[in-house]
Amino acid sequence: MAGELSPIDKAKYVAARRAADLVEDGMRVGLGTGSTAAWLVRCLGEMVREGGLRSIRGVPTSHRTAELARSVGINVVSLDEAKWLDITIDGADEFDADMNLTKGGGGALLIEKIVATASDQMVVIADAGKEVESLGAFPLPVEVIPFGWRTTQALIEETLISMDVLGRTATLRMNGEAPFVTDEGNHILDLHLARIGNPRQLAMVLNQMPGVVENGLFIDICDTVVIGYGDGRVEVRDINQGTVEHDRLDFEDTDNLFTDLAE
Ligand code: A5P
Repeated sequence: MAGELSPIDKAKYVAARRAADLVEDGMRVGLGTGSTAAWLVRCLGEMVREGGLRSIRGVPTSHRTAELARSVGINVVSLDEAKWLDITIDGADEFDADMNLTKGGGGALLIEKIVATASDQMVVIADAGKEVESLGAFPLPVEVIPFGWRTTQALIEETLISMDVLGRTATLRMNGEAPFVTDEGNHILDLHLARIGNPRQLAMVLNQMPGVVENGLFIDICDTVVIGYGDGRVEVRDINQGTVEHDRLDFEDTDNLFTDLAE
């Protein structure tokens, strides 16, 4: 079955599989959102069913992750129930050499940032194509309240004139004919910046605007990146320890994870 996966899905899977080994029984675990995080949830579910992680509690970062986590047997709790997390494992749209991230391609950036920030360790799982020299090629998601979103959009575009970015347009994310609505009932403006010269400054400036709820720049939040490759190689970079580990995972054709692909 694994042979039917595309190289990019194999890369996502091996990153998720390797990161699942960082989870110990009894931990409170933040569960990310997106296609890579979905692999992680399936891996953890399998480990729960096999008995190794029987008493973990998972805090999902979206309704769809909550649904998947429950369906694979993970005990799902709210962040307020868990209070603080041992580890959060999530995907990213881009990461740079300082482990700064762009997130929110799946629209869950607000809860993802709250959950990641409430964790002792935040681990990003990604295929190698997500690594960039500078953030910004992937449009930066900004969650805004629906009230006056056009005014917020105009304010953002005006502010971008004085920022260290190459592009300056903001577009409303759509879901078919209607604006996309986040789990928290907000909209997303995607900022087409091409290159972000100073992500830290941009993140601070955006969050000072009244209509902005949160932006998709994750600065100084990520501790570890697990990078997967289509041939099974995995690289684990830990920014706190300054270590880089290399590993290789075998695909198991009998693995039932591959039989119930939901996305
Ligand atoms: C969800 O809102 C995002 O932050 C995802 O983590 C990000 O878009 C990565 O998604 P994939 O793993 O599907 O690429």
